[in-house]
Order: sequence, then C-alpha cells, then structure tokens
Amino acid sequence: MVRLSSLVRNLKAETAFTVLALARTLKAQGKDVVELEIGDSPFPSPPHAKAAGIQAIEENRTGYGPSLGLAEFRASAANFVNVEFGHNVTAENIVVASGAKPFEQYFAEAFLEPGDGVLLFSPHFPTYIPNLERRGARAVLVPLRVEDDFRPRPADVARFLESDAKPRAIFLNSPHNPTGGIATRDDLEAIASLVRGTDVMVFSDEPYCHMVWRGRHESIGALPGMLDHTVAAYTFSKSYSMSGWRIGFAVAPPEVVQAIGNLINTTASCSPPFVQWAARAALEQDAASRDETMQLFRHKVERLAAGLAKIDGMRVVPPAGTFYVFPDVRPLCNRLGISSHGLALYLLEDADDKFGVACLGGESFGAAGRGFLRFSCAETDERIDQAVAFLPEALSRTDRIAQFLKRRPEFVLETPFELR
Ligand SMILES: Cc1ncc(COP(=O)(O)O)c(C=O)c1O
Repeated sequence: MVRLSSLVRNLKAETAFTVLALARTLKAQGKDVVELEIGDSPFPSPPHAKAAGIQAIEENRTGYGPSLGLAEFRASAANFVNVEFGHNVTAENIVVASGAKPFEQYFAEAFLEPGDGVLLFSPHFPTYIPNLERRGARAVLVPLRVEDDFRPRPADVARFLESDAKPRAIFLNSPHNPTGGIATRDDLEAIASLVRGTDVMVFSDEPYCHMVWRGRHESIGALPGMLDHTVAAYTFSKSYSMSGWRIGFAVAPPEVVQAIGNLINTTASCSPPFVQWAARAALEQDAASRDETMQLFRHKVERLAAGLAKIDGMRVVPPAGTFYVFPDVRPLCNRLGISSHGLALYLLEDADDKFGVACLGGESFGAAGRGFLRFSCAETDERIDQAVAFLPEALSRTDRIAQFLKRRPEFVLETPFELR
C-alpha cells in the first residue's frame, strides 16, 4: 500500500482546474459547454512574442540557462516594471520562473518557519494556503467585504501585526482574483506604513496589473522603502495571453533574488530560454497589441457584468479590475436551497442535457467566498451572451435542481445566508 505524506493527503488543489477537467470531459461526450471557469484568455499570444519564440527554437536556444533567468530578460523586465509601475530596480532585482504561481512556494520557502503567521485577505487565490502548509506556516484569514468594494482594510493589517503571536508575512493580490477589487494607493500607503521597520514580508501577487478598469495599478513594492519588504510576482499569462508558455518573474531585493535562484536550482533548474526570448519580445515590442487586448477584456467584463446584473437574485459589484465577475448569489442560493458551488456545478452538469455553463462557486476561494459565483471572460462575446441568456432558464428548472441535489446532497444549503 502506498503511503503518501500528510502534506499531499491534505493538499487542496485549485478548483478551476478540477472544473476545467469536468467541462472538457462533458465536451468530449458531446455537450456544448461555455467555459467561464478558468481565468484564461481567449486571445492568441501577441505576434512578436510568437515570432521570437519560434526564432529562438530555430536558433537552438533550447538548452539549460541560468537559474535566475537570462541576463537579457532580467534587464528588460526591470526596465518594464520601472516604466509601467514606478519601481526603481535593476536586473539584480529580477528572478524568472514558470508563471507567477511558483513564487508562492518560493516566498514561503524563503521566509517562513513553522508556526509563522501569514495574513491572507479572503476570498483568496486557492494555492496560497497549500504553499504556506509546505512550511507549516499559519494562514490568518481576514475578509474582504463587498461593502468595501473588496479593498483590503489597513486596520486588519494593524490588528494582525499587533495581536498575532508570530506575524511574519502578508499576501496582497491587487487587482484581486476572484472579486475584481483593487487596492488604492492610499490603501497600500497605509499598509506600507505599518510594515516598514518590522521584519514582515509582503507577497504582492500582481498577475492582473494591466487589467485595471478604474483608477490605476499600484504596486506596494514601488513605495518608498518597501522593496526590502516585498516579493512582487508578475506573469505573462494574463497581460500577454501566454498562460501556456508558463513564464513570469518576481521583483525582490537582490539577496532574496539569489535565495529564490537557489530554490529554483534545486527544483526546476531554470526557465526555458526560448520562452524567455519570447517573453522579452512581448515586453519590448508587444505593448500596443497588449493594450488593444486589454480594451477587449474591458468590454467583455463590462458586458458580462451588465448581463449578470439583470438576472433576478444576482447582485453584481462592477469589477474595478481583472477579467472576473463575482456576483453575490446569496438570495438565489437561499431560494433554491443550494450552495454556491453546487449552483455552479448544476449549471454545468444538470441544468440541461445539451448545454452547460462552467463557472466556480466562491467557496473555491475560501469560506469567505460562500454565496458568490466567479465567472471569467475566457470565451468570445457571443459565447458569453449565450451563457448569460441560459442562466434564467436554468435557474427556473426547479425539478432539475431538485434532481441535482438528490444526486449530490453535499451541495444542499444547510443554513440559509443572512441577507442584509
Ligand atoms: C491571483 C493569482 N495568482 C497567480 C496566478 C497564477 O498565474 P500564472 O499562470 O502566472 O502562474 C493566478 C492565475 O489565475 C492568479 O489569479
């Protein structure tokens, strides 16, 4: 009998990929599914990136490279964050990895000891907690509130720093997945003023840095004195529609960059050089194409938010950033006696034999997300419209909902949500 570690046995994986697998299975069986579960782009990778990637392969840039990343890529990335987000860094501050996600693990391994307290605003990106658990650190959850437009409250940070036995790190994610909230400069200034002068480190997860629809993107690491407290993670997955290339980078103090380089040395060894050449071309030459795509996303997310807001029982805070809409469906859940993730799976599996919509229950992002659904904009406008048009009909099929709950009783809503 194989004996797995307690880490693996307790590992909670990202639900988006689980629902994606289910959606793909249903599609393979002939069902027409609109896939709004995964935070991916329906657009192609930008032209210069593609050409540079192909050229790099033709030129046989296909061997190992330095664990920290190619010098040329690191220089371009430093220049990019300086120009775009007001950082003041050099290539020494940049380390490359396969997307933003691996930096959650590297951050945890670089800073955390067992028992350390880590503040997470919740709902939260689901892989944060497994990465803290790798180091035996403690997640301290505080809610993001719909009435605050899902902005982090500096007072929650102050309370954590004052009252936790071993406060060591704070995870920030702005623009925020799944809520679409953004932290303002004032929010970040207030948090920074609490962190400066302590040994607390901030993991600033910024995959949606170009998807800000109100205000502008602010990076806490760019505030005076904050680089020494920050690992800021960036990715090509969202801004450049390059999720499958698996490429991202972090901005951090040089000694942290070296430490993460050693962690990469002992795991992935390095990021593929030809992918770094493609990504460098994206940074240097694809800004115009990126900005056009961001406008398309903006229209998409506005269209989706407007469509969902018309559905009886759904309350939508128009997202200030990201390509997600996170409607409050507590009235609907109460009316139908179903949990929000149950509702999501019902829309995919049981609402209709031939057609389904894949989305996620807010509880995929922690208990604070219960009673919400997350829809992404990962399909064409026409498909999004089709999905929105399907929902009222699907929600009226109470016989099918009852059947679903009989089949999957774990999704019965035991206690109705309190509504204000
Ligand atoms: C908040 C957040 N962090 C990290 C990631 C991972 O992105 P990447 O593809 O760069 O690993 C995502 C992707 O959805 C995300 O939403």
